[in-house]
Amino acid sequence: MKPVSKSNRSKSKKPVRALDFGDRWDYAPAPESVRPKIKKQYELFIDGEFVKPHSSKYFNSINPSTEERITRIAHGDKSDINKAVKAAREAYDKTWSRMDPRERGKYLYRIARLIQEKARELAVLETMDGGKPIKESRDVDLPLVAAHFFYHAGWADKLKYAFPRRDPQPLGVCGQIIPWNFPLLMAAWKLAPALACGNTVVLKPAETTSTTAMHLAQILQEADLPPGVVNIVTGEGGTGAALVEHPDINKIAFTGSTEVGKRIAASTAGTEKKLTLELGGKAANIIFEDAPLDQAVEGIIQGIYFNQGHVCCAGSRLFVQEGVYDQILRKLRTRIATLRVGDPLDKNTDVGAINSKEQLKKISSLVQCGVDEGASLEQSSCALPEKGYWFPPSVLTDVTMSHRVAQEEIFGPVLSVMTFRTPEEALQRANNTPYGLSAGVWTDKGSKIFKMAEKLRAGVVWANTYNKFDPTSPFGGYKESGFGREGGKHGLSAYVRL
Ligand code: NAI
Ligand code: MG
Repeated sequence: MKPVSKSNRSKSKKPVRALDFGDRWDYAPAPESVRPKIKKQYELFIDGEFVKPHSSKYFNSINPSTEERITRIAHGDKSDINKAVKAAREAYDKTWSRMDPRERGKYLYRIARLIQEKARELAVLETMDGGKPIKESRDVDLPLVAAHFFYHAGWADKLKYAFPRRDPQPLGVCGQIIPWNFPLLMAAWKLAPALACGNTVVLKPAETTSTTAMHLAQILQEADLPPGVVNIVTGEGGTGAALVEHPDINKIAFTGSTEVGKRIAASTAGTEKKLTLELGGKAANIIFEDAPLDQAVEGIIQGIYFNQGHVCCAGSRLFVQEGVYDQILRKLRTRIATLRVGDPLDKNTDVGAINSKEQLKKISSLVQCGVDEGASLEQSSCALPEKGYWFPPSVLTDVTMSHRVAQEEIFGPVLSVMTFRTPEEALQRANNTPYGLSAGVWTDKGSKIFKMAEKLRAGVVWANTYNKFDPTSPFGGYKESGFGREGGKHGLSAYVRL
């Protein structure tokens, strides 16, 4: 074990244990060859046209793995939001809500097919702009994006079967605000059900990852979607706030931090606006002694290092039954040491770049706080690129429930490991956070799975697997993780009046 020397790892006096596998296999670089056409500058998408922002201001979108500028994004303000909401209202009144639902379905099918056709290019762009490994954007994000449009296209003319003996009606104009961890996928989660139910939309992408949303706008244009049905206004928090506060909005759907979610809940309280919030998480993975241990370790690795841990349902806390603690930790260390960190566009890369400088700062400071509070830090000794925002896959042990790293969302590739003796203790510890988005249970025994799933206060519980998504299955949280569900029939109900 050689010590980690890189200065951005940990500044504590306590030694950081370096996870080194010895002879890591070296693969020849396998860079993605497709180069998407990137414009020098992206405008706003309002009423079916690309228009300049009222402020004439643009901001840079950076490739977080190189710190190079990719493009410039229009900075929309209140007056652009007003224009977009007006266009969405007109499209709602005159076209979309009146259209035969079968016709609406055809548009969604067309969008889904166009996304499939351009999937490779979109995946590369997603990786360049956000830092996630190409194998994830190519094999996970993009297929799911298309699947969400296909799934909801099917519902468009069958809503009365989703809500038998009811009369589902659209809500009107929806304001949708999305984060940077799954830029296109979050756009699809929000747009597809809203459109299928007959609503029109103003979408606000996250400031660090707006580029693929603007390529989606091109697809909407190509699909001949009637003008104003979807409007995309890029910008930062203030742009989102203007959308939330607009008086002519019928529904707000938000995914992002609990802090902003609370602000949005306060600002929409007492108005007629409907609201769904999908906020942070602090998911627990629970490994019982009888679990298939190798499979569990692979699932844990997927659960936390997938997308650099930029996942609201990331399995950031691991509870291991005492009898297998040493064994699990040994297996985890070995596996972490083999993870390939680096160029996100390389097809061999497992862990890409941290999305932004701010996020890297947040991860580093929370991990430092864990060490200061007494946790032991182990990190992969992999070489990190000189440029860009990187954080090595990390494990914290000697963590207690009161440590900040056991309570707060880190949103980075950092796993906190704790132990338990009995199922009751595991439940009590797993439920002991302000969040309740997801959890994982690893055991050979079916009855134990049911018992745990029933008592875990989490919207999603995976058993002997992790981070599996499907458009037919509802996703969402309890407590400070938010309310409302996305996906499946439950997700549709967030976009209709019954
Ligand atoms: P954020 O909540 O500030 O950003 C999410 C979206 O909300 C972005 O589009 C942003 O422009 C917009 N926004 C910001 N302030 C707003 C306001 N006052 N009104 C309306 N919209 C507003 O999240 P941020 O700062 O990017 O990340 C901070 C932390 O939040 C992360 O470290 C992570 O812990 C958590 N997070 C959770 C996500 C999830 O999927 N649940 C996604 C992103 C972040
Ligand atoms: Mg970017």
